[in-house]
Amino acid sequence: MLSSDIVKNRILITGSNGMLGQRTVEFYTEKKTYELLCLSVEEKSVIDGVDYISCDLADKDKIKKAVYDFCPDSIINAAAYTNVDKSETERELAWKINVKGVEYLAETARVIDAHLVHISTDYIFDGKNGPYNETAKPNPIGYYGRTKLASENALKISGINYTVLRTNVLYGIAKNSRPDFVKWVVTMLREGKQIRIVTDQINNPTFIDDLVQAINKAIEFRKYGIFNIGGSEFLSRYDFTLRIADYFNLNKSLILPIKTSDLNQAARRPLNSGLLTIKAQSELEFKPHTIEETLFLMQKELGL
Ligand SMILES: NC(=O)c1ccc[n+]([C@@H]2O[C@H](COP(=O)([O-])OP(=O)(O)OC[C@H]3O[C@@H](n4cnc5c(N)ncnc54)[C@H](OP(=O)(O)O)[C@@H]3O)[C@@H](O)[C@H]2O)c1
Repeated sequence: MLSSDIVKNRILITGSNGMLGQRTVEFYTEKKTYELLCLSVEEKSVIDGVDYISCDLADKDKIKKAVYDFCPDSIINAAAYTNVDKSETERELAWKINVKGVEYLAETARVIDAHLVHISTDYIFDGKNGPYNETAKPNPIGYYGRTKLASENALKISGINYTVLRTNVLYGIAKNSRPDFVKWVVTMLREGKQIRIVTDQINNPTFIDDLVQAINKAIEFRKYGIFNIGGSEFLSRYDFTLRIADYFNLNKSLILPIKTSDLNQAARRPLNSGLLTIKAQSELEFKPHTIEETLFLMQKELGL
C-alpha cells in the first residue's frame, strides 16, 4: 500500500483561532496522520496552510453543512464565549454560543457517529470546597459557568459519544492570541509596572499543551464521559505569580497582593477551586508538567 493510501482520521477543530484551538491545530498538523478542518468565527485562520472555514457556532445551518461536508471522525470543540464578566450582560449571546452551539455540534455528531470532545471549566462550581473531582455537585455562581454546565448537560442527554474535559486557568504557548497570564506577568514586570494579583483564588493552572495531550488521548483511547484536566499544583494566583517572577528573575516587589472583592468584577469567581485529575491520570495517561517545566518550555519556544 502506498503511504498516500493510508486512511487518515478526520478531525474538526472548532475555535481553532483561540488560545487552546490554535495549539491543538499545531499539534495535529505536526502528527500528519490526521486530516484536519479548522473552524472559527473570524474571516481567516491565524495559522497558515490549514483548511479553514469561517463559521459561527450559533449558525445551525452552516454548522450542519460544515460537519456533513467534512464528515469528521472526531470533533474538538474549543470554541466558546469565554468572557466571564461580559457573560453577565451578554447573556443571550453567551447562551447561543456555549449551549446552542454545542447542541448543534451534538446533533450533527449523532448523525455521522462522530466523537465530540468538549472543553468545560471549574466555573461550574461555586468554589466553596474545592478542589473538585468529577462527581462533585456543580453550582455555578456566574452566567458563564451556567452556560458551560448547560453545555455538559446537553451532551449528557444527547446520546452521542462525548468526552467533557473540565479545565481551569489555561496558560501556555499560543502565539497568535492575546497574551496568556504568564506572558502578561513577564511583560508587565519587565516593564517595571506594578501588578495587582488576587491571593484568594486557588486552583491548579493548566498548561495548554498538557490539555492538548489529554484531548488526543481521549480521541485515541475513545474514552467517553467527564474528566478533569488541571496542573500539577494547587496554589493561589498570587503564589503562581511569585513562581513566575522567581523563574524569570523578575522584581517581586512589583506584585501587590489583593482580594478578589477589590476588583469589583461583574461576575463572581469560585475562590477555593481547582480540579483533581486522578481519573485522567489513570485513564488518559495524564501527566501534567511541573510549573517550572512549563515555564522552561514557554521560555524556549516564545523566547520569553
Ligand atoms: N482560558 C481559560 O482559562 C479556560 C479555563 C477553563 C475552561 N476554558 C474553556 O476552554 C475552551 C477554550 O478556551 P480558550 O481560552 O482557548 O478561549 P479563547 O481563546 O477565547 O478561544 C475561543 C475561540 O472560539 C471562537 N469563537 C467565539 N465565538 C464563536 C462562535 N460563535 N463561533 C465560532 N467560534 C467562536 C473565538 O473567537 P473570538 O476570539 O473572535 O471570539 C476564539 O477563537 C473554552 O471552552 C473555554 O470555556 C478556558
